[in-house]
Amino acid sequence: MTKTRIIALFNQSGGVAKTTLTQNLGYHLALKKRRVLLVDMDPQGSLTTFMGLEPDTLSESIQQAIVENKPLPIYPELIHGMALVPADINLAASEMQLFSAIAREYRLKNALAVVKDDYDFILIDSPPSLGLLSILSLTAATHILVPIQCQFKSFKGTELLLNTVSQVRAHTNPTLQFAGFVPTMFDSRTAQESRTVKAIQEQLSDIGTVYPPIPKTIAFADASEHRLPLALFDKNHNAISVVKKIANSLDKLEVKS
Ligand SMILES: Nc1ncnc2c1ncn2[C@@H]1O[C@H](COP(=O)(O)OP(=O)(O)OP(=O)(O)O)[C@@H](O)[C@H]1O
Ligand SMILES: [Mg+2]
Repeated sequence: MTKTRIIALFNQSGGVAKTTLTQNLGYHLALKKRRVLLVDMDPQGSLTTFMGLEPDTLSESIQQAIVENKPLPIYPELIHGMALVPADINLAASEMQLFSAIAREYRLKNALAVVKDDYDFILIDSPPSLGLLSILSLTAATHILVPIQCQFKSFKGTELLLNTVSQVRAHTNPTLQFAGFVPTMFDSRTAQESRTVKAIQEQLSDIGTVYPPIPKTIAFADASEHRLPLALFDKNHNAISVVKKIANSLDKLEVKS
């Protein structure tokens, strides 16, 4: 049996489609009959909202699991075929609450250890920061998947990101592997964006797979507003085949022991 692939969607830059991809890739893996758990590690609770829950009304969130060592609060029903651990704004306090906790970097890894055999994939949506919550996510993960916006400025941030991954490998997770890089919000009519995609391919393909770019389209925002993965909102949309292709690649990943 293949071991559980635990994939952290991470980029310290905000608004690069981490949450959108977490939900949509999870959905396509679930369609392939994979058992999928999504974990919201962002105090903004965007993934929780995209999945149709109200972060303000939660009785339990990921915060209790990582701060108080309570069992992981997995939402009692599957949503579009996926299990979810929700987050709310209380998670923002956890960096302070864990300030002096011993081995705090391992809190999410330990919480997931109890349930991970129940899933083929665990996708972790990280916050847009290099803070403790992101370190917890990268420490728990077997793989990191990096969405990158197809603009020159966001491409420059990858140096900082690669440095963070090196630090995590050196200190808390030596077997962390790259699942790859996903150029996002690609506008093929813009020459600068095409150049950026080429530069991403040239400079990062030695480090990890560079997937085909996800086209820029308002349909993702519209689908999230309706609390749906894109494929359930507009089943013929041309961005779906790209997401599906990436999900198929993730399905071939293996876990280093
Ligand atoms: N391919 C796309 N084309 C156009 N807009 C997109 C695309 N993918 C996502 N978006 C939109 O961009 C915005 C940011 O996406 P999302 O919330 O997924 O990013 P994020 O990286 O999780 O952000 P944050 O850093 O705040 O967590 C959302 O409004 C989303 O609907
Ligand atoms: Mg997000």
